[in-house]
Amino acid sequence: MTEGTDPRDGLIRRRLEDTGSVVIFSSGKGGVGKSTIAACSAYLMAGSRSVGILDMDIHGPSIPALFGARGTGFRESRDGLIPARVENIPLMSIDMFAGGRGLPVRGAGKVEALKDMLAITNFGPIDMLVVDMPPGTGDEFLTALEMFGDRCSVLFVTQPSALSWNVTRRAVEIALEMKSDIAGVIQNMGKRSGRISSDCSRMHVPSLGAVGYHSSVGDRTVRELRGSAFMRELKKVLENASLL
Ligand SMILES: Nc1ncnc2c1ncn2[C@@H]1O[C@H](COP(=O)(O)OP(=O)(O)OP(=O)(O)O)[C@@H](O)[C@H]1O
Ligand SMILES: [Mg+2]
Repeated sequence: MTEGTDPRDGLIRRRLEDTGSVVIFSSGKGGVGKSTIAACSAYLMAGSRSVGILDMDIHGPSIPALFGARGTGFRESRDGLIPARVENIPLMSIDMFAGGRGLPVRGAGKVEALKDMLAITNFGPIDMLVVDMPPGTGDEFLTALEMFGDRCSVLFVTQPSALSWNVTRRAVEIALEMKSDIAGVIQNMGKRSGRISSDCSRMHVPSLGAVGYHSSVGDRTVRELRGSAFMRELKKVLENASLL
């Protein structure tokens, strides 16, 4: 197929006309809390606007589990697949197609799978789409930036450690080079690092604050985390980003 003739591109563009804005949760490192923070942010933001959530993590989809929605799916309609609503949030994940099994897919195959999912999913009119990413700046991240374009901004999640930030900082630099809008950097699972704040100000990227380590977070769904210290700290961080 030659460039510009992929019919999915037009479909995706038309579907995005119904979407106010897109916030992508990304990081350099794995396991820093992106999915937990993306799911809980969607939950908090849904208090004041209509929000959808899209899980673009092909190899480690976590959003259905975080919403206690494993096994839920979508409804077929004349105008695409209508995602199931969980906590009043329409939720779509590649896991809904994989049926809980791992997907041995790479490179171009991943891009095709993600484009298919974006083209056939009908979130309906929503104010905001929250997108959960796998770690890194590979196929999934680049596909998201390409598909969502000017409509999206990126929130980077890092642990406050140098090991985590040194990798995530590179991801921030790539996003800056690509002229992506960066909503800011969230530090998770520790005390705020002064070095991250100063690196952020040097790069003219908002440093949004820190969410501490709370042992009660593990294995809880967003509903079970309601009112927790984790949620309260995350709320402050999202307010700093003017997302609440
Ligand atoms: N603030 C926190 N305090 C304690 N545990 C947390 C916190 N945030 C996340 N976790 C836990 O850390 C683990 C990793 O979180 P999560 O899966 O959200 O990370 P991730 O960045 O999405 O991982 P991946 O890169 O694999 O997608 C989970 O067990 C989660 O419960
Ligand atoms: Mg994740």
